[in-house]
Amino acid sequence: MPNAPSRTLALIYLFGMPMILGIESSCDETAAAVVRTGGIVLSSVVASQIDTHGKYGGVVPELASREHLRSIVPVVRGALADAGIGWSGVDAVAVTRGPGLTGSLLVGLTYAKALALVKGFPLIGVNHVEGHIHAVLAEVQASGGSVEFPALALVASGGHTHLFEVPAPGSYRLLGKTRDDAAGEAYDKVAKLLGFGYPGGPVLDSLAAYGDPDGVAFPLSKMKGNALDFSFSGLKTAVLRWSQAKQMEGEIIARRALLKLHRKPALEQWLSVTPQETLDAIAAFQRVAIEEMLRRIAEASAATGARAVVISGGVACNAGLRRAALSGRLACPVHFPSPALSTDNAAMIAAAAFPRFERGDFDDLTLTAQSNLALA
Ligand code: KG4
Ligand code: ZN
Repeated sequence: MPNAPSRTLALIYLFGMPMILGIESSCDETAAAVVRTGGIVLSSVVASQIDTHGKYGGVVPELASREHLRSIVPVVRGALADAGIGWSGVDAVAVTRGPGLTGSLLVGLTYAKALALVKGFPLIGVNHVEGHIHAVLAEVQASGGSVEFPALALVASGGHTHLFEVPAPGSYRLLGKTRDDAAGEAYDKVAKLLGFGYPGGPVLDSLAAYGDPDGVAFPLSKMKGNALDFSFSGLKTAVLRWSQAKQMEGEIIARRALLKLHRKPALEQWLSVTPQETLDAIAAFQRVAIEEMLRRIAEASAATGARAVVISGGVACNAGLRRAALSGRLACPVHFPSPALSTDNAAMIAAAAFPRFERGDFDDLTLTAQSNLALA
């Protein structure tokens, strides 16, 4: 329920451009950012927990909450310092309220509510998935361009693979989503089973360039029902079966040993413990994963008459996906965020909150975290 802003919007516009402090803690990144007028990113600080979770091959929720508690204060202070403002320069606080890990969400949300209470900031709870879409809209706006509507938005990350129709800014219709693994989760699980650490996306993406994408025939998913839903678990299982048939324990042990020696091995080091056949399998996995995403975007684009496509979330960093999506196969302009705003960050949360800030549509202190919060 909207409540009264603690200061009038008119005064904010009179004395300068509204600044929103964004806070994000839905998974394994503690992030804060200051964004001016919904599009100008003045600062964006991200404390990654990769070192904490890497050795477990995935995010451990209890450890994530503890790390958020450790990082939230310095990260928010860092974002204010980088933006060159103090508390008095903040006009509202925006925070991720879901979807995500409940314990992780609670840290950011409780901190944001405390700021709202103590400093009197208007509070805006933001859907994390909508945040990913706004990462793109904000950057396009900042570069002087605009995204045409109706648009399609694919959010592909470690937790989500959702395809939306966006008829107009702020309005979303879910066209399809994953029925099992998210796209990033498939990258992470395939990387783990092949002996590459967590997260798997960046390393598999780099190595895919050295393999033959047609070297192994991994299958595309066959969907019953909604053809715009996604499935990546069959692809992951196909890679597992392929690796079991190859008896590749030796190279997997070598890669795990490399990971013990180096927190983040260089590309050459990975290449030295990855035979050509495995590089071919990685390239083939990447080719199919990209095709799963692109063929649905192409189909939805034709069905909805989309005038733009927005691709966001951690998987939007993928070089192969960017190349394929920008190759002309999709009939309308395709927009990606910069890599820094593709993965989890708080600038996207502050940007997504701006339309609500302009409307004076604020949350009160009863705002709750919702691990399964839906966007549409
Ligand atoms: O958006 P994000 O930071 O967090 C979630 O909301 O999940 O996305 C992280 C995910 C991880 O699964 C990671 O492996 C994947 O994005 N990712 C990639 C790449 N970079 C990150 N997947 C494929 N290719 C990449 N280059
Ligand atoms: Zn995310």
